[in-house]
Amino acid sequence: SEELGVEKYLQLFQLSPEMLQEVSARLRKDLLRGLGKHSHHKAPVKMLPTFVRATPDGTEKGDFLALDLGGTNFRVLHVRVEEEAQKVLKMDSQICAIPQEMMLGTGEQLFDHIATCLGDFLESQNLKGKTLPLGFTFSFPCEQLEIDKSILIRWTKGFNCSGVEGKDVVQLLKEAIHRRGDYDIGSVAMVNDTVGTMMSCGYRDQSCEIGMIIGTGTNACYMEEMKNVKRIEGADGRMCINTEWGGFGDDGSLDDILTEFDVEVDKTSINPGVHMYVSQLFRIITPPPFEKMISGMYLGEIVRLVLVKMTKDKLLFKGQISETLGTPGQFETKFISEIEDGLENAKKILTELGLDWDPVDACVVRLVCDTISSRSARLCAAALATLVNRIRNNRKLDHLKTTVGVDGTVYRKHPTSKLQKAVRLLAPQCDITFLVSEDGSGKGAAMVTAVAQRLAHQFP
Ligand code: BG6
Ligand code: GLC
Repeated sequence: SEELGVEKYLQLFQLSPEMLQEVSARLRKDLLRGLGKHSHHKAPVKMLPTFVRATPDGTEKGDFLALDLGGTNFRVLHVRVEEEAQKVLKMDSQICAIPQEMMLGTGEQLFDHIATCLGDFLESQNLKGKTLPLGFTFSFPCEQLEIDKSILIRWTKGFNCSGVEGKDVVQLLKEAIHRRGDYDIGSVAMVNDTVGTMMSCGYRDQSCEIGMIIGTGTNACYMEEMKNVKRIEGADGRMCINTEWGGFGDDGSLDDILTEFDVEVDKTSINPGVHMYVSQLFRIITPPPFEKMISGMYLGEIVRLVLVKMTKDKLLFKGQISETLGTPGQFETKFISEIEDGLENAKKILTELGLDWDPVDACVVRLVCDTISSRSARLCAAALATLVNRIRNNRKLDHLKTTVGVDGTVYRKHPTSKLQKAVRLLAPQCDITFLVSEDGSGKGAAMVTAVAQRLAHQFP
């Protein structure tokens, strides 16, 4: 009966191939909705134009700065693009911590901090007098009006700084730099991390036309035909579209596959003081449904909620929940891949969580981790299949061979075979190569800046 009990929990998270097909079909409809002329404000999948129309042509060159904000680490980079052989070199980079209080403070504080990090970096690189162009990877949903005008639609992934939603992020950055007055930057190009990743991989592999992130959040971008992008004039060529697929299900379209645990993540109990960050976060921001089932910000918490309920059902740890396991945010997402890696890791982590476990407990916990990370991989595969099938149909091809540039801790830390297998099943006429970006998205942001600068000089 205990086995049956465990099985019942695991079944909640299993998605049949038919269901994955169904998820992919629902997303296909949502992509169309998002691309429409007016509907996008209400569309759960926003399909945001990025103003990136072309990949590099090889004549770009120069020195660039890049900022990379919104993933696990905030980074400042100095990138050099060399004309011959299209070399993109990372000259140097620096990680700069963002204190958690700052993620929930005022926008002014956040941008002052960013300007300080950039200033310190320029100082250390002897670049302060130089006024270099800057590529800004800002990994949040933005309504982009031009390459250097980008309005934040809403915060996600634990950020919630006041006075930024609805504002032009480039302007906020420039104002913060001007408040200091000790250095300046040149032209700015704004990119989402998916776009930066696609472009980073694009100079290594010309057929890279999709960028995908499975990290703190999840999202993808791809090259869409201009004639289908109803919000932007012109019908020639292509434009990269930032799908913001994390919001898929925001209108309830995935409610039938959400489990009680996915729903509970939204209202994880508030525990003032001790875990201010986690509690604030979940109180203020309702996580986007698709992102919640896939990305690193939430997977650990989902596993924790399952383990707690199973323990209450006396299926684990002799019915005893430790204080740590009982606390929101304490089961980290990285534990999942560590536990999947081997039973010894599982035992170590359970001990660290203060649990009184036996060997069967360790196996069951491993099964739970495996089940929840499989669901994440397979849902992501369903979404990716929708994109490649769309590109194939757009181009009226029987067969599409394409490359996906990928990044994100969840992708890097987990075996990718489940994802690849599921995509092959759902997009049998597409042959996909996965390319993990080197040095993150910063190089790609610099490439976008370089292309924008070249175009500005050619067509002033
Ligand atoms: C980094 C990219 O490597 O990966 C970032 O440079 C991106 O732009 C990040 O946001 C995503 O992964 P994670 O796991 O850090 O959220
Ligand atoms: C969130 C953001 C999105 C970003 C993704 C991955 O979904 O809204 O812009 O690309 O996380 O970092």
